Amino acid sequence: MSNIIKTENLVKRYFLEGTYIEAITDINLNVTKGEMVALMGPSGSGKSTLLHILGGIDIPTEGKVFIKEQDIFSLSEKKLARFRNINIGFVFQFHYLLPEFTALENVMIPVQIYNKKEAREKAEKILIRLGLKDRLNHKPSQMSGGEQQRVAIARAIVNNPSVLLADEPTGNLDTFNTQIVMEMLKELNKKNNVTMVIATHDEEVAKYCDRIIFLRDGRLQT
Ligand SMILES: Nc1ncnc2c1ncn2[C@@H]1O[C@H](COP(=O)(O)OP(=O)(O)OP(=O)(O)O)[C@@H](O)[C@H]1O
Ligand SMILES: [Mg+2]
Repeated sequence: MSNIIKTENLVKRYFLEGTYIEAITDINLNVTKGEMVALMGPSGSGKSTLLHILGGIDIPTEGKVFIKEQDIFSLSEKKLARFRNINIGFVFQFHYLLPEFTALENVMIPVQIYNKKEAREKAEKILIRLGLKDRLNHKPSQMSGGEQQRVAIARAIVNNPSVLLADEPTGNLDTFNTQIVMEMLKELNKKNNVTMVIATHDEEVAKYCDRIIFLRDGRLQT
């Protein structure tokens, strides 16, 4: 099976003020290894919800997610955390950098458990590539939104994940930096065969992708 991501009838339901809201409904999605997919749809259509569930960060109300044929929600919390750390890179819509650490340290966090020197070199290389040579030792509060966003992207790819899930990774970036980020992601996709699902409102970002999938009111449009 070459579907590195596969979902079965995913539903996420929230209970709010006496009624149920379905953020996503009956999602059956297949992504082939090495594919670069844009996830588009209006605000509130369920893009972040779906990405969080694909990444094992949020739990579906119903349905299953298989990553590399592993049913991820059948794993214990500890095993899922480990699986995620090895296989999945996640770029959050709202960055979630650790405020007390510098840009460089934030990027080194996922790798430093293995080899500190190597982690540092790798983290530096990616940050420099993303135009942050002069921001390595800045803390998140000392950086602009777009700079923080690029640090978050660096953190997500530093561990060579086989799957990268990115939630509006260029949402705070100008055209120039959007191009830098997308060219780097495309290169990573081509060279390392990294499978990607990228939520975006930006047609320019979608142009770098092999396929666009649309969500509307929590449902995949076919
Ligand atoms: N914790 C929650 N409790 C209740 N409803 C929620 C919760 N989180 C999300 N929702 C609802 O689920 C729906 C989908 O939200 P989601 O954040 O996935 O949308 P999105 O497509 O990522 O939007 P955007 O483009 O604005 O980021 C929305 O209607 C939202 O209000
Ligand atoms: Mg969102």
